[in-house]
Amino acid sequence: MKLLRLPGLIDIHVHLRDPGEIQKEDFYTGTLSALAGGVTTVFDMPNNIVPIFSRKSLLEKLSVAKSKAVCDFGLYFGSIGDNISEFEKAAADVIGLKVYLSLTTGKYVLGDEDKLKIIFQNWPKQKIIVFHAERDRIDLVIRLMEKYGNKVHITHVTTKDGLEKIIAAKSDNLPLTCDVTPHHLFLTDTSGVIVKPALSTKKDQDFLWNNLKSIDCLVSDHAPHTISEKKSDKPPSGVPGVETMLPLMLTEVKKGRLSVNELIRLTSTSPRKIFNLPQDDSAYIEVDTAEEYIIENKSLFTKCAWSPYAGWQVAGRVKKVYLHRKLAFENGKLLVSQGFGNYLH
Ligand code: NCD
Ligand code: ZN
Ligand code: ZN
Repeated sequence: MKLLRLPGLIDIHVHLRDPGEIQKEDFYTGTLSALAGGVTTVFDMPNNIVPIFSRKSLLEKLSVAKSKAVCDFGLYFGSIGDNISEFEKAAADVIGLKVYLSLTTGKYVLGDEDKLKIIFQNWPKQKIIVFHAERDRIDLVIRLMEKYGNKVHITHVTTKDGLEKIIAAKSDNLPLTCDVTPHHLFLTDTSGVIVKPALSTKKDQDFLWNNLKSIDCLVSDHAPHTISEKKSDKPPSGVPGVETMLPLMLTEVKKGRLSVNELIRLTSTSPRKIFNLPQDDSAYIEVDTAEEYIIENKSLFTKCAWSPYAGWQVAGRVKKVYLHRKLAFENGKLLVSQGFGNYLH
């Protein structure tokens, strides 16, 4: 046994599917899955069946989340450019705005550049806008943030080309940050796994690993779909991952590919800074970095009950998770009740 204490991880990109698709996940199973992976804070995306485009749908989701969450959580507001009048009614209650500029689950994609400009003009400047932006959409976002002075975060960077554009904008001192997912770090376009943005080549993946210092956060993009949906002729894109992110990364720490400090920066220090979250010493975890085990579908807490990493050997078992100074999860057992998680905004 070799115990390592880490700050509870902050995962700023998950889809807990509640309300609307609780056959895939819900706020209880999703946040339990988070705790099992050492994650004590999740930020949930707005692409629900009824999207979080109004104060009404936001409050409905909030009431579900408050009653079920076992880890801390924040919520994003969403927009395809038709709900500007809702911005001031919602902004104070969310951690940021999420905008999809490329097609993905939910099909809430914004194609109209004029509408995008209106979003930039109307969303509060000090509050972040998170973009799903691929290829030329990255250039567009950088151009507009420069013009309108917004704080922007580009989620799930996948390619050398995309990250290079972000690195260039950062060196121009734009308030731009970005993140990467485990699946883009561990799987490539030959793996057959369907996710958006699509998995890239080994060459792109090497570039991401070699430039981790220019990436701000690590996010799971936990996107559960049922096994039968994933096995169908038209599988939806997305993979679950909030529970497997830390063991996968700790395995790379063991191999010397990144340091523990780098991991803390990506999963705690940087997300706190970007989202103005105060330091929280009451959320921490203990992992046994010596314990090696095989990821198995049957041991997962996510309701969808599968993982693209099933069968992978990892090093690093989450033993204890403390939240609000209380032992909330220990050796695979939840020790707090639904509603224990705090709402962050
Ligand atoms: C996500 C989902 O299923 O909600 N899917 C995915 O492939 N990543 C949406 C998204 O993050 O683009
Ligand atoms: Zn996305
Ligand atoms: Zn996502």
